[in-house]
Amino acid sequence: MVVGGGGREHALVWKLASCPNVTHIIAAPGNPGIASIAKIFDIAADDILGLVNLAKCEKIDLVVIGPEVALALGLADKLRAIGIATFGPSKAAAQLESSKAFAKDFMARHNIPTAKYGVFEEYEPAIAFLKALSPPYVLKASGLAAGKGVVIAPDFETAQTEVKEMLSGKFGDASKELVIEEFMQGEEASFFVLCNQQSAIPLPICQDHKRAFDNDLGPNTGGMGAFAPTSLVDEKLEKDIISKIIEPTLRGLKDDKIPFNGVLYVGLMIENGQARVVEYNCRFGDPECQILMQFIGDDFAQCLMDIATEKPAKLAQWPQSKSSVTIVLAANGYPGEYIKNGEIFGIGAAESGGNAKVFHSGTKLCDDGGLCANGGRVLNVTASASNLKLAIDQAYKAIEKINAPSLFYRTDIGAKELKRTPN
Ligand code: AMP
Ligand code: GLY
Repeated sequence: MVVGGGGREHALVWKLASCPNVTHIIAAPGNPGIASIAKIFDIAADDILGLVNLAKCEKIDLVVIGPEVALALGLADKLRAIGIATFGPSKAAAQLESSKAFAKDFMARHNIPTAKYGVFEEYEPAIAFLKALSPPYVLKASGLAAGKGVVIAPDFETAQTEVKEMLSGKFGDASKELVIEEFMQGEEASFFVLCNQQSAIPLPICQDHKRAFDNDLGPNTGGMGAFAPTSLVDEKLEKDIISKIIEPTLRGLKDDKIPFNGVLYVGLMIENGQARVVEYNCRFGDPECQILMQFIGDDFAQCLMDIATEKPAKLAQWPQSKSSVTIVLAANGYPGEYIKNGEIFGIGAAESGGNAKVFHSGTKLCDDGGLCANGGRVLNVTASASNLKLAIDQAYKAIEKINAPSLFYRTDIGAKELKRTPN
């Protein structure tokens, strides 16, 4: 059973369905893309009781939890308590994502490199701390805010106003506790590790594109496209990240008696060959998961089962000469107020050459039985090839076959990597 209904979960279900030891998959709430390969149930990812009951009734062997909200609400704990194998961390370990204050204190305690910070619930001390920093200022709602709780203020006055608004509930309870950070220069990368107390399996390092528009312009989004692998992180830096960030994190969690079971997602800032942690997440990235699933073989289900049941887990090595890219088609207006219910045609045509796979993020069946947009990020067009340039060309060619006038996408996904290593 896969919990969630976005592009990440479509990719997970797609990969799990190809594994020989998986006989039957359900998803909740799923989406129309997922419905073509698994039975879906209309139970939301935050309906913990409903999900537990579903897993019980369907006699599920393994639950794979996609979204952070279910983890932060303790779904993994509830499932494990009734003996259902679950891939996903406990509520306590998920605090790495659900409380930025917790995550920063954790990093400070375990000497994990990250930006200087302070945690505030009162206006005056927050402003005093701001004065000691230089612009731009990074202000974060400590709690979960659907990826929207980070504000980067260009000057002191804007930061001051933001502090006031955030502390008085701009992001609801999530921003009543505020993390203020030093701004880190550099380029971001996403590092994913499948882990339990026996295993830590690093996956290919990805780069997401957070800004809405080409050339990294416009507002921050949940991610407009991603690619892997990336030359931003060479073998030496990867080893460094493992020894200075990943291992101390897993050891720290064990020492703090909150061992992590699931996928640890470390958002990194890389500058001059050094990595620092921007944030932790306790789940697969979306859209990074869509490309990770292109590298992993049909031993994935067994690996997740072994992770979930605290056995030593492994994954077959993927080909070194493979690159993968995914491009997000989002509704016009996203990440602000966006157009709803736009019609979508041509997914079959986009996939027909066999060079691209289209994962559904926010889609639904419309009244006439066709496909409509149902969210900010709507489709993820994904392609893999022996090099990134080829993969990118294939993905954009597939997008040309999709007819969805209410959607937009970036035209430069992966371009920064091609500039670094033209091939
Ligand atoms: P977070 O949710 O903490 O990952 O923040 C969202 C995005 O804000 C990150 O992916 C970065 O692009 C940016 N960001 C967060 N913290 C910092 C920081 N300390 N310095 C620079 N950029 C940051
Ligand atoms: N792509 C960023 C995230 O999943 O948080």
